[in-house]
Amino acid sequence: MSPQVRELAASVSLSHRQFLQPLFVDESLPAPRPLENLHGVQADTADSLMRTIEADLRAGINKFLLFPVPAHKQLLPSDFSFTVSALEAIRRNFGDDIWLVADCCLCAYTANGHCGLTDATGNRIDNDRSIATLTDYALAMAQAGAHCIAPSDMMDGRIASIRRGLDDHGLDQVGIMSYSAKFSSQWYGPFRDACHSSPASGQLKDRKTYQLSPANPEDAILSSVRDAEEGADMLMVKPAGWYGDILLRIREQVSIPVAAYHVSGEYAALELMAGAGLLDRTAAHLELWTSLKRAGADIIISYAAREARAWIEQQRH
Ligand code: PBG
Ligand code: ZN
Repeated sequence: MSPQVRELAASVSLSHRQFLQPLFVDESLPAPRPLENLHGVQADTADSLMRTIEADLRAGINKFLLFPVPAHKQLLPSDFSFTVSALEAIRRNFGDDIWLVADCCLCAYTANGHCGLTDATGNRIDNDRSIATLTDYALAMAQAGAHCIAPSDMMDGRIASIRRGLDDHGLDQVGIMSYSAKFSSQWYGPFRDACHSSPASGQLKDRKTYQLSPANPEDAILSSVRDAEEGADMLMVKPAGWYGDILLRIREQVSIPVAAYHVSGEYAALELMAGAGLLDRTAAHLELWTSLKRAGADIIISYAAREARAWIEQQRH
């Protein structure tokens, strides 16, 4: 087949309009910090974040997933002022030129790096108290201007609680993108480094008690369907690359948009291969993104989202 025929016959296509760019804003930084394990990505200061967003807008990306990293950890997080001021500043500068999703999790805030609150023993997550705090946090972020809240904690019942909290405060127009199929995974390493959010505490040293098991696909389908029923506007599969089967099944079972998150470790692996000359960086990202689309993703979250428009334009079939 000639390139022209390959182009005509392609039934899967990419658009930069369906990409979300993750952003990190770190309160403890005196200056932007290039993330050495995430080639081309930096943790921003509150100021430099504005320049990053400006440049991304010029590159054709206007949808963002924000990860705030506060300087001070709290035993029982209740002071979300750093996140609030970052969101307010972004909306003050960019209004509705952008669509801003705020990651909603406690792991960058908690002293032990867990996504929820632990009980008195420190060895178990207290689901109810975690949900109450996550709902407070979601409310604070919505009031500060987030267009959409993305709960990534994986506590049971959080979507219904956050939806109710938002509605009760007149924030029914604020959306929820649920990390509904988030697996306990080896691929989050560079992200935890960027967010200083590695769990380290007593018996509860990893996130296996609340994140999904890769060996239990039914659980992922169930929690996705349940999150949709609880009021999520969009769902997510994470990591994306090794979980195409999950994407496909969720796409078939729900009617709301599904996002695929090509996570930090997956991104780093590809970049390391490219750096070693073992694959072509652009072609590899395009192939991976195409595979996510093929598996049913409506939305792609990639650390290279800001390259998507240029790469897709130049794509050769
Ligand atoms: C925290 C969170 C994680 C990611 C997004 N939100 C890490 C984790 O669960 O440990 C991973 C993103 C990535 O690796 O790119 N709740
Ligand atoms: Zn978390």
